[in-house]
Order: sequence, then C-alpha cells, then structure tokens
Amino acid sequence: MTQERPRRTFAIISHPDAGKTTLTEKLLFLGGGIRDAGTVKGKKSGKFATSDWMEIEKQRGISVTSSVMQLIYNDVQINILDTPGHQDFSEDTYRTLTAVDTAVMVIDSVKGIEAQTLKLFKVCKMRGIPILTFINKLDREGKEPLDLLAEIEEVLEMETYPMNWPIGMGKTLKGIYSRGTNKIEVYDDTHDRVIVDYDEQNFLEDYEKEQFEDELMLLNEAGNEFTQDKVRNGELTPVFFGSALSSFGVQSFLDEFVQHAAPPQPRKASGEMIDPESSTFSGFIFKIQANMNPNHRDRIAFLRVCSGTFTRGMEVMLSRTGKKMKLSQSHSFFASDRETVNDAMPGDIIGLYDSGNFEVGDTIVSGSEPYRYEEMPQFPPEKFAKITAKNALKHKQYHKGMTQLVQEGTIQLYKTPYFEDYIIGAVGELQFQVFEYRMKNEYKVDIEFQHMTHELARWVTGGEVTDGMTDSRKMLVNDQHGRSVLLFENEFALRFFQDKYPDLKLSTGWEML
Ligand code: G4P
Repeated sequence: MTQERPRRTFAIISHPDAGKTTLTEKLLFLGGGIRDAGTVKGKKSGKFATSDWMEIEKQRGISVTSSVMQLIYNDVQINILDTPGHQDFSEDTYRTLTAVDTAVMVIDSVKGIEAQTLKLFKVCKMRGIPILTFINKLDREGKEPLDLLAEIEEVLEMETYPMNWPIGMGKTLKGIYSRGTNKIEVYDDTHDRVIVDYDEQNFLEDYEKEQFEDELMLLNEAGNEFTQDKVRNGELTPVFFGSALSSFGVQSFLDEFVQHAAPPQPRKASGEMIDPESSTFSGFIFKIQANMNPNHRDRIAFLRVCSGTFTRGMEVMLSRTGKKMKLSQSHSFFASDRETVNDAMPGDIIGLYDSGNFEVGDTIVSGSEPYRYEEMPQFPPEKFAKITAKNALKHKQYHKGMTQLVQEGTIQLYKTPYFEDYIIGAVGELQFQVFEYRMKNEYKVDIEFQHMTHELARWVTGGEVTDGMTDSRKMLVNDQHGRSVLLFENEFALRFFQDKYPDLKLSTGWEML
C-alpha cells in the first residue's frame, strides 16, 4: 500500500557532464537508497532483458528506457524522473518535463549555462513550474558566483536568489554560508558535514571574511527579494552552491528542496482545472516505451497520476476514444520495486502494460466524464532526413508503420508539397535510430535515409510562402497537421530569409506550445 506521504516530483535539467548523475546518486543516498521504477531491466522483469530492444541499448551502451526513482526525505516522497541526455536526447526528454511539478537546474560552475540546459529550461519556463538551481563543482576554479547569477538572469531571463553563498572556490574553498541560518557548512576533505555558526567561526582569514561580507552586503542590498510566489511561478530561482562529488551542500539543498518544490498542482483539462484532490482518478501518458518484447508487440506507457487515487483493477476510460478498460486485466505495472503497483497518488508515475491502446498525450479517467489534459506539445526538431522504403513493394507496411510511429510520438513527419516526399524530423539522433529499428523489426521495412543539412524549423503563422521564395536550401514542407513549415540550414539562412520577406510571420514552435 502506497503511503499517503506528500509527493514532490521533479526532473533535473542540465547539460551532459554538469553532474546530474552524481547529484542524483547523492540525493538517493540521503533518501535511503536507490529504488528504480519504470526501468525494465531488473531481475523481476527479466523477460525483457533478452529482447531485441535491449540490443539497441547494449550496442550503444546507453539506456533508452526512462527511469523513475524515489526517495523518502523528511517524510516526503520525492519522485525523480530521469531526463536522458547525450546522444539519447530525444523528444521523450522534453515530454518527461511535462510530467514533473518542479525542475532542478544543475549548472557546472566552470562552464555556466550550456546548450542543452537552455533547451530544457524553455520547456519548464513555459509551464511556469518552480526551477531550483544547483551550481555544481564548487571545488573547482569556476566562474565568479556573481557572474554566474548575472548569466542566469540575462540568458534565462529569470530572477535569482542565492540561498547560500560560497566562501572561496576551488583550492581556496572554505565553505558555504546559509543566508537563512547564518551558518557555514565547512568544506573539508573528509566529506564530513560540519556546520558552524558564522559568528563563532575562527578559520577564515580577515581578507576572506572581508571579501565574503562585501559580497553578502551586495546581495542583501542590490539582490532580488525572495518570495515564495515567484518561486512557485518560476519567475525566481533559488540558487544553491555546492559540490555533488564531495557531497558538499547536497543535504542543505535537499532540506530546502522539500520546502520550495511544488506539490502536484491543478492541471488544465478540457478547459477546466482539475484539482489533484479530486476524488476522480485521472492521469496522462507522457511517454511510451515500445516493443520491448518484439514477440508480443508490447509497450509500456508511462502515466503521470494527476488526480484522485489509482488502485489496481479499477475501471478507467480512455478519454480519446471513450473506451473503458479494467487496468488489472490487460495491464501490469512497474513500481518503485519493479513489482505490481497497487495504488498511486497524484505526482506518482506508473507504467501501464499496453497492447497498443495508448498514444502519447492520452488522458485516462476513472469517472464517466472523459475530459482530456492539454495536448502534448510538439517540440521543434533539429535533425531531418528524407526517407523512402528500400523495397517499393512494401509501401503498405511502410505507410502503416509510419502512421503508427508518428502517432506514438517516435518521430515527427513532414511532407513536401506536390510530391509528398516524406521527411522525418527529430530533436535527437536516437529518434532516427529507434525509428529505423522499429520499422525494420515491427513492420519489416528497410528504410533508406538521406540525412539533410537543415537544422531549423519555423512554422509559418502569418503571410503566404510562394514558389519563388524557397529552394532546396530553404524548403517548404507541411507538418503532420498540414501546417506550413520552413526548414533552414542555419541561423544565417534564416535571418537572410527574414530580412528578405519581413512580412512573413515565422514561429519556432516554442511559442505555439
Ligand atoms: P552528468 O550526469 O550530468 O552527465 O554528469 P556526471 O554526474 O556523470 O558527472 C560528470 C563528471 O563530473 C564526472 O567526472 C563527475 O565525477 C564529475 N563531477 C560531478 N560533480 C562534481 C563536483 O562537484 N566536482 C567535480 N570536480 N567533479 C564533479 P568524470 O571524470 O567524467 O567521470 P568519473 O570518471 O568521475 O565517473
């Protein structure tokens, strides 16, 4: 029986190597151990371990499956959703962010804000969820703390409020000062957590104290005011400094996280706000992990519980079709211990064993009112390829596979006007590989790829694109909803085009989310 502890559900947004894995491990350690849900590689789900699907993971040495981890801290259940990065960055990484209530942004103090962080940040910013910032690797010579704050404010257009402040950095790191408690967490090599009152400390040299006190005065006088409301709306980010590797500042961060992270919020569905406290169970599917066992065409649909209580065996309705289903019969669940989930609360993620009923973005409700949570956004792709079936005789399977995989959200589909050539778009290379693999294994179609040099998509939201305006380098295509989209090779080509046709309104897609 899942205890009714408060839930806090978050994901880490960061650029590869900033320290996401290290921080996650330390948090899990503080929360009493690693418990993995949603990954299907465990012993108890061994039937998947030998599947072909896993081959793709083995070959590439990556984890394609998404994972959900849990920790209990101060009697709060914290659910952490993993956001795949590196080459396995895909639309699923973005979609995961629609299922969390809070984001933790991890920034490498040496590098500042990097590309992937910025992309993921945009999704969180649009959702208006709290974003807590952990500036990592304080044990290294990084950028000046004040410069890092300025960078966040300028690049991300968000106010900052440092909850703690470093004294020294890299080799001269002495500790971090907590603005709320007037205490210092002392940095020492043994990694033991030592906290002393600032007024009673005797290890800081006069010049160190002077510099620190100057900076603190500047923060107090010229810095932003902290308000919980601004944090909750994602307008101000509480900033924490630390070093995940040395477990330094991690527990202080977790203490504050529990206070500032948002509990499950009401969410909009069919024009109404659905309260998590509502007695009706509801949730939406943000990711489908397909075909882990090719013999059965089975899939795991990851569902975020939004309201009410989920209990196994309950009858639910799939809002898109009105179809009723009893989840216990045809579905099993992966939970914190990779066993069957018996119940789940708002904020929890459950894995539904799916035989092909669900689509990404689907809402499931227990009542008789089939409302639907807001549509899953389409994220702007950055990689494109023209595709054809190697064997033209297989066009039937080719179209079937394409339609199903596009519906599932595996890939985005575009067509050229007139000839209706297929172009697929993705935010990460992995999506192409998964698409190719699944077309071959599930639909028996070999795909010919012609990678394109285009990297930018812009939706045409005003004006008309006429024949003479485009060519192969700035292509006009239609997306899967029939909207006009222009593909450009780079920013330069885009700017040139915009200068030439200033009346045309172009959108990145982000604004349309
Ligand atoms: P990621 O998941 O965001 O990609 O980052 P990860 O935690 O794997 O960390 C990336 C690298 O940065 C690792 O080093 C890790 O040890 C290091 N790191 C993480 N936190 C800190 C920190 O607070 N200080 C310092 N100095 N380094 C940190 P690596 O050499 O790439 O891997 P490994 O061989 O240490 O595992």
